[in-house]
Amino acid sequence: MAVLIISGSLRKDSVNRKLVAQAGEIYGGEVITADLNLPLYDGDLEAAEGQPAAVKTLADQLATAEAVIISTPEYNKAPSGVLKNALDWMSRDSRKLFAGKPVAVMSAAAGRTGGETAQYVLRNMLSPLRANVIAGPALCIASAGKEFETGQLENDRYLANLAELMDLLRSTAAVTKAAKAA
Ligand SMILES: Cc1cc2nc3c(=O)[nH]c(=O)nc-3n(C[C@H](O)[C@H](O)[C@H](O)COP(=O)(O)O)c2cc1C
Repeated sequence: MAVLIISGSLRKDSVNRKLVAQAGEIYGGEVITADLNLPLYDGDLEAAEGQPAAVKTLADQLATAEAVIISTPEYNKAPSGVLKNALDWMSRDSRKLFAGKPVAVMSAAAGRTGGETAQYVLRNMLSPLRANVIAGPALCIASAGKEFETGQLENDRYLANLAELMDLLRSTAAVTKAAKAA
């Protein structure tokens, strides 16, 4: 069993990419990194081909994962298009991949609110997928470029919240696994 880390930004030097990598390390165990470089969802493409290869890869990773960590950038007060596109593709899989899946959400952004609005929207986006989103603590990394100047998060206040969030994600995943096995 593994944790799937999803960055809503495709940028190589993305702060969200760095944040989910650090979160995955703290979570521990096997970490699978999602690649959201997917074709745009198009019903005609889906009807003609089913899931494109990159979409199938992500769907299978999600099916395997015991827990998911998602960090979204804030683009004009909303999550990125690539993240929305990926969730739309995942919602079309007949396995109901997100239903009951323990998910931790977070955000990192340049602004002073740390992508709080985007994260709120992301929580709503996960609601129709029936993901088991950990309620808190909220983790919104403000002025994220500065926070990740050394390559990783070092701010104690943020790190305490991240550790608590990962503890809760791990314990929720354990309970979910036990319930499935029963
Ligand atoms: C199209 C676009 C819209 C943005 N809108 C916001 C915004 O609403 N709030 C904010 O704090 N930062 C905004 N930013 C700045 C991002 O927070 C910043 O580029 C951040 O580093 C993106 O995350 P990444 O490093 O993971 O790619 C925006 C950036 C882009 C490219």
